[in-house]
Amino acid sequence: MDKKTVIFEIRRQANPDAPAVWETFELEWRPGMNVTSAMMEIAANPVTADGKPTTPITYDSNCLEEICGSCAMRINGKARMACSALVDNLDQPIRIEPLSKFPLVRDLQVDRSVLFENLKRVKGWIPVDGTYDLGPGPRVYPEQQEANYPLSNCISCTCCMEVCPQFNESTNFVGAATIAQVKLFNNHPTGKVLKEERLRALSGDGGIQECGFAQNCVEACPKKLPLTNAISDVGRDVIVQVAKDFLRG
Ligand code: SF4
Ligand code: SF4
Ligand code: FES
Repeated sequence: MDKKTVIFEIRRQANPDAPAVWETFELEWRPGMNVTSAMMEIAANPVTADGKPTTPITYDSNCLEEICGSCAMRINGKARMACSALVDNLDQPIRIEPLSKFPLVRDLQVDRSVLFENLKRVKGWIPVDGTYDLGPGPRVYPEQQEANYPLSNCISCTCCMEVCPQFNESTNFVGAATIAQVKLFNNHPTGKVLKEERLRALSGDGGIQECGFAQNCVEACPKKLPLTNAISDVGRDVIVQVAKDFLRG
């Protein structure tokens, strides 16, 4: 009996200026196979379905358990994590492409540093100097922890930005992930010391007003962050901040 196989069509590009080409691979099916494990198999034996030797595919990956956020790519047209994309749940041939909204490095690897620049812009951190003992921090009550925990699950995968119609070069929109982290850190009793600065950072060019509220982001998020709630809550806070700043002169 013939062995069951899985067909992959993978978009290859040797560098940002090289032409894109598609290569087809046919791998033996294995139970529990996912897109990352298939890519590892191709690396071990980089030969296309028609027997032509090729190079291993370049892609990002680390944790293999949907925690590090590095392996986002387009799989059958959908932005998602390769390590949790089980082959058995995908239509064949499985088409794999890099994310389209970020500068391409090679093959499936893109440069997503814009998200980290955006997090710097909104001071997406809690400002504590850890070089000496500050004593116990303020209490965080269980209700606050429960409200904030879903926001802390962001893995910086950028799927929400990939699918967002407003995330493009003409708007410079920061995207949903950054807005959600503003809510998380503004809600924190220590983090809120920078609340006003964060809200001001979201009030200008590329800020929260660019969001068209199409809600593609919340559908695409692999960690199910409550992004639309975060966008409306932070949007309201930004308006209040702008009004306060106006009245202060
Ligand atoms: S609601 Fe729509 S426009 Fe706003 S961040 Fe999400 S996908 Fe983008
Ligand atoms: S909000 Fe969701 S989709 Fe966006 S970067 Fe975080 S985990 Fe990824
Ligand atoms: S390898 Fe870390 S999320 Fe996929």
